[in-house]
Amino acid sequence: MTKLTKQDIKLELTKNPKEKPDQSALGFGQIFSDHMFQMDWTPEKGWHNPRIEEYSPLSLSPANATLHYGQAVFEGMKAYIAKGEAVLFRPQENFKRLNKSAERMALPQLDEEFALTALKELLKVDKDWIPTADGTSLYIRPFMFAADEYLGVKAGEKVKFLIILSPSGAYFKDGLQPNKIFVEKEYVRAVRGGTGFAKAAGNYAGSLLGQQKAAKLGYAQTLWLDGVEQKYVEEVGAMNIFFKVDGKFLTPELNGSILPGITRDSIIQLLKHNGESVEERKVAIAELYEAAENGKLEEIFGSGTAAVVSPVGELFDGERKVVVNNFETGQSTKDVYEQLTGIQLGKVEDPFGWVEKVEE
Ligand code: PLP
Ligand code: COI
Repeated sequence: MTKLTKQDIKLELTKNPKEKPDQSALGFGQIFSDHMFQMDWTPEKGWHNPRIEEYSPLSLSPANATLHYGQAVFEGMKAYIAKGEAVLFRPQENFKRLNKSAERMALPQLDEEFALTALKELLKVDKDWIPTADGTSLYIRPFMFAADEYLGVKAGEKVKFLIILSPSGAYFKDGLQPNKIFVEKEYVRAVRGGTGFAKAAGNYAGSLLGQQKAAKLGYAQTLWLDGVEQKYVEEVGAMNIFFKVDGKFLTPELNGSILPGITRDSIIQLLKHNGESVEERKVAIAELYEAAENGKLEEIFGSGTAAVVSPVGELFDGERKVVVNNFETGQSTKDVYEQLTGIQLGKVEDPFGWVEKVEE
């Protein structure tokens, strides 16, 4: 199959550009830019018909395989304006992970280089949609799903890949204020050998009931425990998690059921670069309760593309409640947030070469 290049991307620009949103009132993932990227896959043709076209609804059969069996994967990344130019943060990592997710869900592999080229072309067209107000960015959602009209259970033979863009503000309505997290002991999110490491649509569907339960009790998200013993911390609904205990940073090791977060990896590298001690290992929830009792649980924060760095002020498992740092954002959490967003926005040095310009 021939390798796709930039020249293969058909441009069909909208005749009805939309009004840009008020940047001071941006929520998360509610508004979409003027254009989207789309291409199709079949076993015979491979990926074909790449196009940038008006952002518009898709027409799907009621027998669409994904609606029934959930064969879908996605990514989340962001574009920023840094020193007047559109930039991305470690975008290759997202397409690498998308391919790992696709493999697990029996979807076809993308040419990662072409996917990034397609994203950059889309961003050139919709560059004016990248917001610049404090705490805002253009959230990028690449996704792939089976588009077959067929009710038998089998891997799709008509697959679509799209990229849509959403100017967004903070994922949590309280921004950098601490969140309350509910420790879930009834339901589990993922098990070894399952799909936890993949950014698969169904992982999120399976988490919603726990999320609703947490919300009813006034908690922003669920902290998932391991699917076997419910003893070890895994991750939060839409982010990985870090604990500062007795001066050291701990985060659950990647074990196949946790999403290998790109923000997680970046923060581990940043902390080590700063000379901090970071341990990636099993973190028992009991260990954290004990640290809290001994006054050693200093800070907790979540990490994710949408969530950025999100302080956690309270853990509650239905019986036991732990308040962290008097429900105030800790200094290390603030520092990590400042350093990470500083690199992303070109305000502080990027010793890792993580920031990539959209237009060279
Ligand atoms: N864990 C889950 C379940 C997520 O949905 C996300 C968000 O993408 C993360 C962790 C953080 O991953 P990343 O830092 O790559 O955005
Ligand atoms: C992200 O951080 O990009 C996510 O995908 C989290 C969530 C919105 C699903």
